[in-house]
Amino acid sequence: MTNQENPILQVNSIYKDFISRGLTRKGASVFHALQNVSFELAGKQTYALVGESGSGKSTTGRIICALEKPTTGSIVFEGNNYTDYSPSLLRERIRGNIQMVFQDPFSALNPRKAVGNAIVEALEIQKIGDSRSDRLDMAVDMIERVGLSSKQIDRFPHQFSGGQLQRVNIARALVVRPKILILDESVSALDVSVQAQVLNLLQDLKEEFSLSYLFITHDLSVVRFIADRIGVLRKGELVEEGTVEQIFGNPRTDYTRNLLGSIPLPDPRRHQLMAA
Ligand SMILES: Nc1ncnc2c1ncn2[C@@H]1O[C@H](COP(=O)(O)OP(=O)(O)OP(=O)(O)O)[C@@H](O)[C@H]1O
Ligand SMILES: [Mg+2]
Repeated sequence: MTNQENPILQVNSIYKDFISRGLTRKGASVFHALQNVSFELAGKQTYALVGESGSGKSTTGRIICALEKPTTGSIVFEGNNYTDYSPSLLRERIRGNIQMVFQDPFSALNPRKAVGNAIVEALEIQKIGDSRSDRLDMAVDMIERVGLSSKQIDRFPHQFSGGQLQRVNIARALVVRPKILILDESVSALDVSVQAQVLNLLQDLKEEFSLSYLFITHDLSVVRFIADRIGVLRKGELVEEGTVEQIFGNPRTDYTRNLLGSIPLPDPRRHQLMAA
């Protein structure tokens, strides 16, 4: 593996406990959502985080994106430990560099806001651009780069298909020029043919903007095409880690073998699209 000496992101022994409070003090219980999770994301690479539902994938993504704090452990971006940054320091140093795209393209956008405004707003929050027209230009540019038309900028979320709307979400994430994009099941809700198109787009954008991806998914058939390394989460623990070749060629745990075993037989149409 190249580039591992100089990772863009380091996740160091993350633990995350959720405390569910019962009606009485006695009823409170602690749920260990993540336990001792450590991995590194190398620059310009794709790290896939896989595992069954509830294994802690989204929690890991949210902690890296600083939407939640770990109970213990640290996260380091380009050598800086940002685990305990204040909200203003996070906004200044991390939010613009680490962006996230979620599974449901509709709920991620305000239904009453034209998509162009949603993109402009992302720039405003990061204080990028000198004027509204400057920011609008950047929004138009990014809308076109994700394969939509500048004419669509005034439209509202309900006027788009799921795949188109996920392109809008990608544009909104990328317009602030992050270095890391966390994709949490970002293509899982899309039809298979649309999924392939969006995956191809993500591969192109990764090259164009020198991005590093954390690709969260339960779908291992997708991982094979896009990942460099894979981490396998099971009940909050990283049970296996390696290159795509290692994990697919020589899975070490029954859990991983089962995940791989649940891959549906290849759909020839999908391969054609992936190659397109
Ligand atoms: N805010 C919270 N409070 C309590 N428990 C939570 C909270 N967020 C997540 N959990 C629990 O932590 C565990 C891990 O959740 P997480 O959403 O990270 O799983 P996941 O791997 O993303 O699953 P899925 O594939 O279904 O999206 C789950 O059991 C979930 O119920
Ligand atoms: Mg999840």
